[in-house]
Amino acid sequence: MNNLLLQALECKPLPRPPIWLMRQAGRYLESYRNLRKKHSFHTLISTPELAYEITMMPIEMFHLDAAILFSDILFLTEIFGFKISFQENKGMQLIPPTSEQDMKDQHVFSTVSKTISLLKKNLTVPLIGFCGGPYTVGKYMNCLTAEWLDKITNLTIEYLKMQIVSGVDVIQIFDSWAGYLSVEEFNNLAFPYLKRILIALEPLGIPVILFCRGSCRFVSQLSSLLPRAISFDWERPLLELRQEVPSTIAVQGNLDPLILSGPLEVLQVHVEELLTSMKDQKGFIFNLGHGVLPHTPVENVQWLVHRVKALNSLSRQ
Ligand code: CP3
Repeated sequence: MNNLLLQALECKPLPRPPIWLMRQAGRYLESYRNLRKKHSFHTLISTPELAYEITMMPIEMFHLDAAILFSDILFLTEIFGFKISFQENKGMQLIPPTSEQDMKDQHVFSTVSKTISLLKKNLTVPLIGFCGGPYTVGKYMNCLTAEWLDKITNLTIEYLKMQIVSGVDVIQIFDSWAGYLSVEEFNNLAFPYLKRILIALEPLGIPVILFCRGSCRFVSQLSSLLPRAISFDWERPLLELRQEVPSTIAVQGNLDPLILSGPLEVLQVHVEELLTSMKDQKGFIFNLGHGVLPHTPVENVQWLVHRVKALNSLSRQ
């Protein structure tokens, strides 16, 4: 198995950083768009064979160093009776439950567990499982009381334990919107719940990556949770953040997805800058600061992965 990602998460010295991309399987891939013409987004995430096929698409095309389970952070809310609906013109909508009965719907766990088993049989790179941060999930559900955040946290812990038992190698928590809270709100609505998740997972020994947009505002709080990595967006230079984060915690990021979607010459300048600044830094995982945008040219992704991988041969010269 290519375990570059696992080694980077242990902050070991490496010839090059591992590379994977948030939303590496999605609308910028023609093969994904073709499947989406035939099936709803909900069908794609709730059919293990389809979720398997989509997870593998970017791995087969670009030979990235990690796969991320194809699913969605809002899938879990179906257990509370919510239904996710995604329409081209309306975007993502969560439809609240109409009756108590819906609460017993447990197909989410069995679907995700089956998808993970299929993936683990065939992957030669680590598999990243994930969940949403309770604050971000609660925000989409419009349920931000302490009681709801508690319920979401408890369910999230069970959900992650199931993913780990099923075989994922790494967990990433997407608390996308927590980084834009005020300090006081962050301390009340996000931090305590993230803390409970990290403490609950600790005995299982699986590395956890924490992602929020705006995570550079909460470097010390996020570091105090002792994740194995913090994922940053492009608001601040990654080298500066590397120097602020304790050296035992890896940093992930932080190319602007808009730059990946733009002209190749501009992309090249930014990538060289990032790679040069992070050269010789331990605990660096190459990624975007947020997900791949739908209009991103496949050639740009191809170039990016080749460029990062070329550091391997350069380091031997
Ligand atoms: O990273 C990956 O490739 C793994 C799969 C994944 C998806 N969503 C697939 C997806 C992951 C990890 C997510 C996380 C997610 N989902 C987040 C956190 C990260 C972030 O982007 O901030 C959030 C907030 C969601 C909720 C969500 N899902 C929204 C608001 C939307 C609609 C807007 C959009 O960006 O498309 C989605 C849809 C979604 N999730 C798509 C994919 C591939 C697009 C569906 C399609 O158009 O077919």
